Amino acid sequence: MFKDLVKQARSYRRFYGDKEITMEQLRELADYGRLSPSGANRQPLKYILVNSREKNDKVFENVAWAGYLKDWEGPIPSERPAGYIIMLRDNSINKVTTMDEGIAAQSIFLGAAEMGLGGCFIGSFKKEQLKNLLEVDEEYDITLVIALGYPKEEVVLEDITAEGDVKYWRDESQVHHVPKRRLDQVIVKEL
Ligand SMILES: Cc1cc2nc3c(=O)[nH]c(=O)nc-3n(C[C@H](O)[C@H](O)[C@H](O)COP(=O)(O)O)c2cc1C
Repeated sequence: MFKDLVKQARSYRRFYGDKEITMEQLRELADYGRLSPSGANRQPLKYILVNSREKNDKVFENVAWAGYLKDWEGPIPSERPAGYIIMLRDNSINKVTTMDEGIAAQSIFLGAAEMGLGGCFIGSFKKEQLKNLLEVDEEYDITLVIALGYPKEEVVLEDITAEGDVKYWRDESQVHHVPKRRLDQVIVKEL
């Protein structure tokens, strides 16, 4: 069951735009982040939750989608995310990036999958513009944007080819394929 959830928690970039995410859902997901492990238990991560149409549109303008899909400009208006969790690091608690971000982000991602949601981590965003737009206080840095919605696309995991190309691709039916290294390629030693 857990493996199914991990497999299900893929990156989705097209959503049912008419299906909304409630603030309660976003709050629950942020709680999974809050409950996640943190180095020295410092807990520097905080969250901005966005689900209004107006703010969704504005956040969308500041994030970059699917760098490998050169001829795709991102989801069309009716297939855009229903909400976002903006992950912040409180610099007054911890100034440096730690592993906390990734751990909390995956808790949120798995929780979203369990709710039937899907999303995409977005590390490529216009930091200063987004900070201004969301009126983020000086002591915070935006570390990650998590786009969320009800997925409207199929994502298939593939064994990576002999050439080792890591680029994901879309086929003629717009199914999204993601190459993953095989287990025997990532286990270096069994001692
Ligand atoms: C830290 C991080 C940053 C990412 N940034 C972006 C991004 O800016 N835009 C995007 O479309 N996808 C982004 N992704 C999604 C990756 O492209 C995706 O995880 C990868 O293609 C593998 O697909 P999968 O998540 O379905 O396994 C990011 C993922 C991670 C973990």
